[in-house]
Amino acid sequence: MNTTLVDSPFRTDVLQGLSASPKYLLSKYFYDARGDELFGQIMRCPEYYLTRAEAEILSLQSGAILERCGGMQGSFDIVELGAGDGSKTVFLLREALRMQGSGRYYPIDISPGIINYLSQTLSTKLPGLEVHGLAGEYFAMLEQMQALTESPKLVLFLGATVGNMLPEEAAEFFQQLKTYLRPGDYLLVGFDLKKNPQTILDAYNDKEGLTKAFNLNLLQRINRELGADFKPGQFEHFPVYDPLSGSCKSYLISRCSQRVIFDDDTVIEFERDEPIYMEVSQKYSKTEIQALALKAGYEPVDAFFDCRHQFTDVLWRV
Ligand SMILES: C[S@@+](CC[C@H](N)C(=O)[O-])C[C@H]1O[C@@H](n2cnc3c(N)ncnc32)[C@H](O)[C@@H]1O
Repeated sequence: MNTTLVDSPFRTDVLQGLSASPKYLLSKYFYDARGDELFGQIMRCPEYYLTRAEAEILSLQSGAILERCGGMQGSFDIVELGAGDGSKTVFLLREALRMQGSGRYYPIDISPGIINYLSQTLSTKLPGLEVHGLAGEYFAMLEQMQALTESPKLVLFLGATVGNMLPEEAAEFFQQLKTYLRPGDYLLVGFDLKKNPQTILDAYNDKEGLTKAFNLNLLQRINRELGADFKPGQFEHFPVYDPLSGSCKSYLISRCSQRVIFDDDTVIEFERDEPIYMEVSQKYSKTEIQALALKAGYEPVDAFFDCRHQFTDVLWRV
């Protein structure tokens, strides 16, 4: 048995979630190397409209977004929370480089593989850009970043990653985020908008089974890293969307009564049809987004939409 792994936050969180009632797993653990790869495929699949909508906003409106950060004269840092593969951010970074001549980009992501990828590829794609990748949790990495730079900041939180929190958690998150920022700094947040419920549900239940594989990969990751013996085929992917609350929640449902044993001999029992709550993907109305900004103590500056008004990137000022 590996003692480092025994005490890892991953093990603690997984065992805590699977011992709770109802059972849950934390969505931040989706993103190991295989999870990153599957998420890349989800972003390109026909049902997942979110990426295309936000790519349209950033490819066509990055100049306008940066101009709205007009108060930030001179050079400023671009910090990105949960950067992922940066494929949409490139549009904004390119525009910032064009306007400033040079620039510094601090991508933060819990996945070390993603941060390596960004560090290796972006300086070549965007000469003149200094990339300082930070692999770890949002606030721990913001803490590290504070020691590196005091310049004004534009913080990006794109791809509707904010939707992985319930609205009350999002308000607390943004309040905490403010403690790492200064008056006059800007925040650009990508929100998925409430829309036809079937369109939303289809995005989390694609025909190719990529979202299903993405969810099941977390069980496989637990097998790989914590020596468990989950049989992923014995769990079913089950997303639901509530158009009133705007919460799209994904569950894995145990197809039968079963037990899973970990390498430290911990046993987790599942009843037939018992759910594991995997993730929320929260959808918002424009009014709810405005209220969230005010609740968290930010000044809403502007909102940018794709042509179908499926998605919005909103600009807030500290
Ligand atoms: C939904 S993806 C979005 C990626 C990218 N922003 C985009 O728009 O394509 C969420 C990203 O946030 C990262 N992430 C999730 N939870 C995190 C946490 N607690 N701290 C740091 N990064 C996190 C994941 O590794 C993943 O790359």
